[in-house]
Amino acid sequence: MTDTIINRYTVPEIFLKKNKSKIVSLSCYTAQFAKIADKYADIILVGDSMGMVIYGQKNTLSVTKQMMIEHGKAVVNSTKRALVVIDLPFGTYENSKKRAFKVSTEILSKTGASAVKLEGGIELADTIHYLVERGIPVMGHIGLMPQRINIKGKFISQGHSSLEVKKIITDAKSISSAGVFSIVVEAVKESLGKKITSSVSAPTIGIGAGKYCDGQILVTADMLGLSDTFTPKFVKKYANLYSDIDEAIKKYKNEVLNGKFPSAKNIYN
Ligand code: KIV
Repeated sequence: MTDTIINRYTVPEIFLKKNKSKIVSLSCYTAQFAKIADKYADIILVGDSMGMVIYGQKNTLSVTKQMMIEHGKAVVNSTKRALVVIDLPFGTYENSKKRAFKVSTEILSKTGASAVKLEGGIELADTIHYLVERGIPVMGHIGLMPQRINIKGKFISQGHSSLEVKKIITDAKSISSAGVFSIVVEAVKESLGKKITSSVSAPTIGIGAGKYCDGQILVTADMLGLSDTFTPKFVKKYANLYSDIDEAIKKYKNEVLNGKFPSAKNIYN
């Protein structure tokens, strides 16, 4: 029996893509999607958006460490090429760098993923430095930070006033200097995405931050059109799986009711 060859992107390889080639990233949480995404994506993020996408929660705040570990394992086990990054759940890292270290090491050692992602700017720079110095690669996340939904009130684009713009650029610079290997920039004007990208040494990965970022990320379920509810403007739907699945399940129901399924092909003789 031959072992499967695992030859994943490394953190330095991703970092060095800045100004060379765009970074293709997707958020996904399950083995089936990850296996396909792995063929094309440089980074797969096991994002805490799973709380909303998989578990039907209204935001990401109730996602737990255990959920990240279970889904992280599923994604790592079904991929061999992409760098796998796992979100640190809300409440597990913000108030103590030692807690951040503990939760990160547990998540990385139990899943086999290569890096963690955390949301925050200058206030988290010290924590990021602490983690990186101790062997934990960190992806940053600025702009719209979904874990801060209760401060903002709703999921809306960020950086509207000049003060906010200045703050987001300061955040980007401080986490880049602290050692993040990449920065997710969410829901800001394209001009701000461009400014951040040219101000930091770490590659930026935009989601609703325009085309000048060093890479792009979308939630796989969103870009596949898996939901019939509100989809943000920055999502492009490359498929319409909600209606495909609806059609298929309706057909199955009708065939069970009218006796067309199972047919001769589906039975044991
Ligand atoms: O949780 C997530 O999937 C994310 C991406 C949208 C960047 O943070």
